Amino acid sequence: MNSFDICKVSLGINSYKIFIGKDIHKSITEYISNYKNYSRTIVISDKNILEKNPSLFSKSLRQKIKFDQIILPQGEKIKSFKYLELIVEKILKLKVDRDTLLICIGGGVLGDLVGLASSLILRGLDFVQIPSTLLSQVDSSVGGKTGINSKYGKNLIGSFKQPKSVIISTDILKTLSNRDINSGYAEILKYSFISDKKIF
Ligand SMILES: NC(=O)c1ccc[n+]([C@@H]2O[C@H](COP(=O)([O-])OP(=O)(O)OC[C@H]3O[C@@H](n4cnc5c(N)ncnc54)[C@H](O)[C@@H]3O)[C@@H](O)[C@H]2O)c1
Repeated sequence: MNSFDICKVSLGINSYKIFIGKDIHKSITEYISNYKNYSRTIVISDKNILEKNPSLFSKSLRQKIKFDQIILPQGEKIKSFKYLELIVEKILKLKVDRDTLLICIGGGVLGDLVGLASSLILRGLDFVQIPSTLLSQVDSSVGGKTGINSKYGKNLIGSFKQPKSVIISTDILKTLSNRDINSGYAEILKYSFISDKKIF
């Protein structure tokens, strides 16, 4: 097993662990409790991530787990009813049951959409977050907020759905654009303003 740190989020029966390591996305089953009990695994990601990390899907993951794959376009536009319907129908088409696990490899946009879909399908499927942007690693993958946008504003439609675990692998950030790295640092700076003089 690779070396990693663990943070525990204590929420009673919804408690989960956040695993943080250098390249732990290459051995994800080790960070998902009772992985063998799932009847089916569906990995959801976006086109951009797939293009920039082809080996992640072809080698690292396929060697370890058997999964169906759903790839969506990237961008804020997917946080919409249109893409919520699309992803829910794609998942249902795979004839899922309640023992299905959804794994989301993506930034805050995909995590918000997949989290919401996982809270709706069969009244709740387990899901695991593998955040792939700095912003999603330091913020959106933790806390259980899911959501899509409305024409009346951002994140107005959503639910709370805690992940079964969050796997934070810093190596996955190697392909991220400078703009998205900076956006993550801005979020870290914001938190340091709000709550922690030492981090600031
Ligand atoms: N749920 C929450 O608590 C919460 C908190 C903060 C923000 N958010 C939401 O997060 C969203 C923003 O998330 P974001 O900043 O991660 O943007 P994003 O999810 O749109 O990702 C930014 C871009 O990076 C690409 N990308 C992702 N991972 C990559 C990788 N490893 N290599 C190369 N490219 C990669 C994506 O394809 C996308 O084009 C907003 O919709 C915001 O509302 C949610």
